[in-house]
Amino acid sequence: MHLLACTDCHTPRKADGSPDTTKLLAGSATFAMAPIGPDGGLVPIGTSNLTPDPTTGVGNWTDAQIKTAFLDGVDDQGKPLISIMPYFAFHNMRASDADAIVAFLRSIPAVSNPIPEHPDLLAPAPPISAAAIPNTTLASTDPNYASAVRGRYLAGQTGACIECHTKHLGLNLGASPGPALDATKFFAGARSSSAISSGCRPCSPRRSSLRTSLPTRPRGSSGLRRALS
Ligand code: HEC
Ligand code: HEC
Repeated sequence: MHLLACTDCHTPRKADGSPDTTKLLAGSATFAMAPIGPDGGLVPIGTSNLTPDPTTGVGNWTDAQIKTAFLDGVDDQGKPLISIMPYFAFHNMRASDADAIVAFLRSIPAVSNPIPEHPDLLAPAPPISAAAIPNTTLASTDPNYASAVRGRYLAGQTGACIECHTKHLGLNLGASPGPALDATKFFAGARSSSAISSGCRPCSPRRSSLRTSLPTRPRGSSGLRRALS
């Protein structure tokens, strides 16, 4: 859950910006603002309540519905999720890892925390091609080879590393959205990480560590300041 950053995005923040651990994975109604309102206006995007609460969480979803949401970006009603949720990267994880995530989500305390819906989107963003994720350049005889191959899987096929550390191309706003990430530049860094480079803004800079842990270095800060201004 940490490697995959689920907890980071799906837990609400206290006023001081730290995660509200009494509502772990119960969703944050004010996670970001995205330009998906009428005429492209900004609307609030919440992260969903992933606890087993039957009415406000995923307690009544089947295992398959939960997996379709985080692997393919389609919810239990068949509606596409906004590509702030990195399903296009999680898509490439092993079935056994996806099953383990579902088993974990079923086992955490249920928390009632309603998250408002946003306007409907037309289609989910397409998944990353696993074949396009760079391979290790180590020779297969190198003692670190197996570790590097496993690291490619962790960083590129399960982890959110690839999501934050790759340039974003845009959100899934049309009927046939293009790729969320620039596949020619996997792991080459992003001027401003995650959703912000797709035109989103945090509702409040203090509500999400994802949004406040953005680059402070020269290579990223100007883009970030523009996105936040
Ligand atoms: C970068 C932030 C981010 C990360 C990381 C993230 N999510 Fe999400 N997730 C979201 C957002 C935002 C939504 C709401 C999407 C929407 O409503 O269109 C969402 C929606 C979902 C949904 C749909 C639930 C519903 O009620 O519609 C599931 C399931 C889900 N996420 C599971 C996960 C899991 C499991 C992980 C870790 C493997 C994860 N998410 C990591 C941001 C994130
Ligand atoms: C939520 C977005 C996000 C996720 C997920 C994320 N990173 Fe980062 N990472 C950043 C940001 C932003 C920086 C730049 C921090 C700074 O410069 O202060 C960074 C910096 C780094 C650095 C330091 C690089 C340097 O040039 O100093 C490394 C190494 C790194 N990340 C590796 C990873 C790995 C490995 C993963 C997955 C396990 C990961 N990151 C997941 C956002 C993220």
